[in-house]
Amino acid sequence: MTLQPFPLERVKQLAIQCARAAGELSLERLQQPFQVEYKTSPSDLVTAVDREVERQVVQTILEHFPEHGILGEESTFKGRVEDYETLWVIDPIDGTTNFVHQQINFAVSIAVYQQGIGQVGVVYDPSRDELFYAVKDGGAFLGDRQLRLERQVKLEEALLCTSVFWNKRAEQMGIDQIVKKLAGKVRGMRLLGSAALEMAYVAAGRLDGYVSLSLNPWDFGAGRIIVEEAGGIVNQMTGEPLPFDRKSSVMACNPTFYEELRHYLREGVEIPPSPAEG
Ligand code: IPD
Ligand code: CA
Ligand code: CA
Repeated sequence: MTLQPFPLERVKQLAIQCARAAGELSLERLQQPFQVEYKTSPSDLVTAVDREVERQVVQTILEHFPEHGILGEESTFKGRVEDYETLWVIDPIDGTTNFVHQQINFAVSIAVYQQGIGQVGVVYDPSRDELFYAVKDGGAFLGDRQLRLERQVKLEEALLCTSVFWNKRAEQMGIDQIVKKLAGKVRGMRLLGSAALEMAYVAAGRLDGYVSLSLNPWDFGAGRIIVEEAGGIVNQMTGEPLPFDRKSSVMACNPTFYEELRHYLREGVEIPPSPAEG
């Protein structure tokens, strides 16, 4: 069997097309009432729009690439990740709570991995019409503008973003205290409520770093490629490389203070691997 070369340009164009169409659909659905359900608790929401948007994205991808695998948040994926050379990793609405409450600060996140290596990452914020994307070895962009993390940032000048404060597991492990100490060291802390957008903002220099104790692959799949292509560093909080197909802690930042940030996060805490579910 002859292996076909990876169609990078076609995949990039399709990922952007899907992300824009998904964003438009979600904005359109905001014009009328929609069904909101609790997934596991009142703080874990899913809407009929999340499901509809994911269905639309999946259908479009499979029309063009029926041989590709798709790992989507709303349980689209039925096969085994390892059976596919090419895997699309999708979050139809990242920041569903913001979508329901604020109608801004949510994004579509689409990443494409080839044999586990990130090739294309797209994060689209429809309410601001901002498209962040990156192609492996091809750079990261916000619209037409190339994103490069060239500014030297000291940790004390950094604006960081984290969801760690409000995480029960962090509290049990004492990590909330470490992040609290970190908050006293940096210029400021933010929490936007959409990991994909927060990581895209790190690439754009609007934030200098992002830390999360546990994210799903569809939360960080695209953001990670965009930050890396902008020249940032993305790893697990332990310093190990991120997986592409399972839960993980995430730290993404400007490279100038990576080691210092790692030092703060490492101090006195062993971070166990994220559970498979939950
Ligand atoms: C959530 C957001 C949030 C992060 C959560 C995610 P969702 O995704 O990215 O910022 O802290 O861990 O689950 O549920 O809105 O797609
Ligand atoms: Ca998400
Ligand atoms: Ca989601």
